[in-house]
Amino acid sequence: MKNISLNIDKVAGFVSEETLAAYAPQVKACMETLENGTGKGNDFLGWLHLPTSTTPALLADIKATADVLRENCDVVVVAGIGGSYLGARAVIEALSDSFEGLKTKRKSPAIVYAGHHLGEDYLCELTAFLKDKKFGVVNISKSGTTTETALSFRLLKKQCEEQRGKEMARKVIVAITDARKGAARLTADKEGYKTFIIPDNVGGRFSVLTPVGLLPIAAAGFDIAQLIEGARAMEKICGSTTPFEANPAAVYAATRNALYKNGKKIEILANFHPKLHYISEWWKQLYGESEGKEHKGIFPASVDLTTDLHSMGQWIQEGERSIYETVVSVEEPNHELIVPADAENLDGLNYLAGKRVDQVNKMAELGTQLAHVDGGVPNLRLSVPQLNEYYLGQIIYFFEKACGISGYLLGVNPFDQPGVEAYKKNMFALLNKPGYEAESKAIQAKL
Ligand code: PA5
Repeated sequence: MKNISLNIDKVAGFVSEETLAAYAPQVKACMETLENGTGKGNDFLGWLHLPTSTTPALLADIKATADVLRENCDVVVVAGIGGSYLGARAVIEALSDSFEGLKTKRKSPAIVYAGHHLGEDYLCELTAFLKDKKFGVVNISKSGTTTETALSFRLLKKQCEEQRGKEMARKVIVAITDARKGAARLTADKEGYKTFIIPDNVGGRFSVLTPVGLLPIAAAGFDIAQLIEGARAMEKICGSTTPFEANPAAVYAATRNALYKNGKKIEILANFHPKLHYISEWWKQLYGESEGKEHKGIFPASVDLTTDLHSMGQWIQEGERSIYETVVSVEEPNHELIVPADAENLDGLNYLAGKRVDQVNKMAELGTQLAHVDGGVPNLRLSVPQLNEYYLGQIIYFFEKACGISGYLLGVNPFDQPGVEAYKKNMFALLNKPGYEAESKAIQAKL
């Protein structure tokens, strides 16, 4: 069985082999710190061995709950924000037919999302869309008090109960939250919803391999056992006993830190398959929230190619040289499509006739990589044999492990997010939330 693999050949002109090799002892120390739980944020290391510690009993429970949703719902609304929704969406979109949402006959319920913003139009349109649907809700919030998610859930719960009756609502509303505290737990216990616990020691952005990601993914009809299996394989490959050069998470963490020290402050995650758009969104949250602190950190950005070559491509090729690029490259698409010959050849494309569309895409990928490297953009490539549950599990664990190492190399706590509180405090003060009287007064004086 192949594995995902990291190629850093196209970084050689920017960071020397010696510089990278010199990172090996530091990386080893960071991995040991993670393993021994002696570093910053050591209360949140539950993700480290999550793949190998996930039990068949938990997977069976998640699968049975997903089956209840699948049997009783045409639509499942996943309510969550940040780490409580991006991982599930990333995997579901990567595995789904691109036009699944427009199909009238479906094998699985449509998965839609809420609780990840406060857009009134969206919520209104969602309410209208759900009006004639048999829908269920997966309410995901570790704290159980996140305003965006709680507000959406209040609307969804009311609509579900009114539309489907209290008894059915109880069957098709599932809560994934803290074992004891928070409003989501309170409501779930009072209403008698099926619940799953987000382990105390797993932070939101590292939680996709807990029920947070697994239940929505299973409800969408995908194989969560394979996802865990892939993650398990990566847990072994990226383990602390694997030598530096053979450990992709170690090499990725070292390379990005070496590039950062050389003034490459922005990492662009690029893909050549639109289905990977949300993998990039998940990755941006993972790295942005983990590393962007103490006025340090690589800014994680992303592009969908070749689409964005016609917009951001100019900037990447010739803008400020503060960027490097990591391409997620899919070796073998799941479908085959041949470019047809055309007798008139008015579009001049007969030179491509008989070739697979993916051959054209691959040449675009290679051409782009060479152009960007020539333009002063170091290039890393993560090769993914195929887009399926197994390799997505590998991608998830690889990026998580590298993130933990990379954050420690940078010297920050990769497992907290103190900066997220600033907007909340202001919002609560502006909305006169009880308990924020002093802040309300102070903020009003500023306006
Ligand atoms: O990674 C994180 O910790 C955050 O992105 C959280 O997942 C996000 O803020 C949602 O929090 P909660 O699950 O408590 O609603």
